[in-house]
Amino acid sequence: MPIIALVGNKGGAGKTTLCVNLASALAEKAPTAILDADPQRSSLQWRELAVRDDAVAVIDAVDGLAAKVDKSRKSFVNLVLDCPPSVNAIQTAQALDLCDLALIPVQPSPLDLWATVHIEDRVEAAKQANPRLRAVLVINQLEPRTRLSQLMRQALAELDLPAARTAIRRRVAYRSSVLEGRTVMDLGSRGAVAANEIRALIEEVVRT
Ligand SMILES: Nc1ncnc2c1ncn2[C@@H]1O[C@H](COP(=O)(O)OP(=O)(O)OP(=O)(O)O)[C@@H](O)[C@H]1O
Ligand SMILES: [Mg+2]
Repeated sequence: MPIIALVGNKGGAGKTTLCVNLASALAEKAPTAILDADPQRSSLQWRELAVRDDAVAVIDAVDGLAAKVDKSRKSFVNLVLDCPPSVNAIQTAQALDLCDLALIPVQPSPLDLWATVHIEDRVEAAKQANPRLRAVLVINQLEPRTRLSQLMRQALAELDLPAARTAIRRRVAYRSSVLEGRTVMDLGSRGAVAANEIRALIEEVVRT
């Protein structure tokens, strides 16, 4: 059963955005839940706005993440964990201890890139207790025409962690959908390109 954690050491990198969109895309194929382990509870807020009754369930897992994962395993095939923006947070440590896949969104900016160095250490440490852990960087808010975005690939190659080939572009659909408690999967043609990008990321990195 895939347990996917969105982790990072930088606020606003896109953890919650990827969390709700990946979970919704995974839910098209198999029962999926989000466990919100971030004290900001942004995924829970998104769920409260949701217009669709069948929107992905979000479970408050700010406390007792491991026990909540254990309990949720019985009802869901995929679990997606939203974590706080710090590798020093207890919830991030717990998530890395129990997930199969850690996805680390990074924006095409040097400051974001530098912050990922701390994650590499944490991921290495977590692998001691959790040898099945895979960690993959995901470029988020890519603007392909900017020089910084072009330099990003080169810079990522210097890091020890692999980066997904599929990058997530900066798109209005990601922002506006969350406001409505939706995801890009619910936007029809307005969200089609973004939805395909999310599905491509799943295809590339998630082993079901
Ligand atoms: N690919 C994208 N295109 C456009 N806007 C995006 C994209 N990804 C994220 N955003 C926007 O960037 C902001 C930060 O994203 P988000 O809240 O998902 O980050 P986060 O890592 O969960 O933040 P935090 O660390 O505070 O939990 C939000 O306003 C979100 O709508
Ligand atoms: Mg968040």
